[in-house]
Amino acid sequence: MSVFRRTTAGKSPRSGAAAQPHPDAIIWAEGIVKTYDTGTDKVQALRGVDFAVARGEMVAVMGPSGCGKTTLLNSLSGLDTVDGGTIWLGGQDLARLSDRKRTDYRARRMGFVFQVYNLLPVLSAVENVELPLLVSGVKPKEARAKALAALATVDLAKWAAHRPAELSGGQRQRVTIARSLVNDPAIVWADEPTGALDSKTATEIMDLMRNLNQRAGLTFVLVTHDPGIGARCDRIVRMQDGVIVGQEIPRAEPEVVRVPAPAPALAMTGAD
Ligand SMILES: Nc1ncnc2c1ncn2[C@@H]1O[C@H](COP(=O)(O)OP(=O)(O)O)[C@@H](O)[C@H]1O
Ligand SMILES: [Mg+2]
Repeated sequence: MSVFRRTTAGKSPRSGAAAQPHPDAIIWAEGIVKTYDTGTDKVQALRGVDFAVARGEMVAVMGPSGCGKTTLLNSLSGLDTVDGGTIWLGGQDLARLSDRKRTDYRARRMGFVFQVYNLLPVLSAVENVELPLLVSGVKPKEARAKALAALATVDLAKWAAHRPAELSGGQRQRVTIARSLVNDPAIVWADEPTGALDSKTATEIMDLMRNLNQRAGLTFVLVTHDPGIGARCDRIVRMQDGVIVGQEIPRAEPEVVRVPAPAPALAMTGAD
């Protein structure tokens, strides 16, 4: 079952037939294979995953520990390389980008939220949020303004000058969400974003992400173990042993089971 019909049914990209992504898909992956070689062992973490996400969709990836969820996120987002298959992001074949362009694309068009906050303890909230902008060459004044705006979006404007140690778990996760938003991404990847939070805080963080998804049209792919979080997404994709074994639409609300409207391909800066 797929929300997308294939345009080149069943043709493996590796056989030479160029599969084309569905025009409504912001993420389109076919036959993704990823093997970890530890020297003594080979772990097939992804064994031929097909995965598509519509623009503006919020998708939960669920499955037992070790089934390949993190590997899938890292592979699709280009944090990690894959051993087989094709990944299109915003209509662009990831493998055809040079390392530099791929990194550039990641920095400009994607946001990341992890279970572990990854905040630098010596920096204040606003400094943590503006850091990725400074790294990608944005002028300090502009970076500061954008970081403050992102903190305001997550309702943390008053905490801008505080360091992570002075913030609660939920507030820290809000800072990471603000940081993921600061480059105005098209896609936010979230790996167990509520995994370290109590259930009330987890609900608040989910409220925030759902809000960003519905109001700003941000595409979310999030890994979760929490059925309550999964149930609030547009679609749940189930993984097991390195493959997708099924998917479901949690709610039957018309706006949730939507077929996305066609949209122009993402502008890919620096794409060839
Ligand atoms: N860096 C790595 N080196 C070797 N094996 C790894 C590495 N990362 C993940 N794995 C293995 O790949 C499989 C999938 O892991 P992962 O994607 O982290 O699963 P999940 O996020 O679903 O818990 C597991 O068997 C795990 O042990
Ligand atoms: Mg994981």
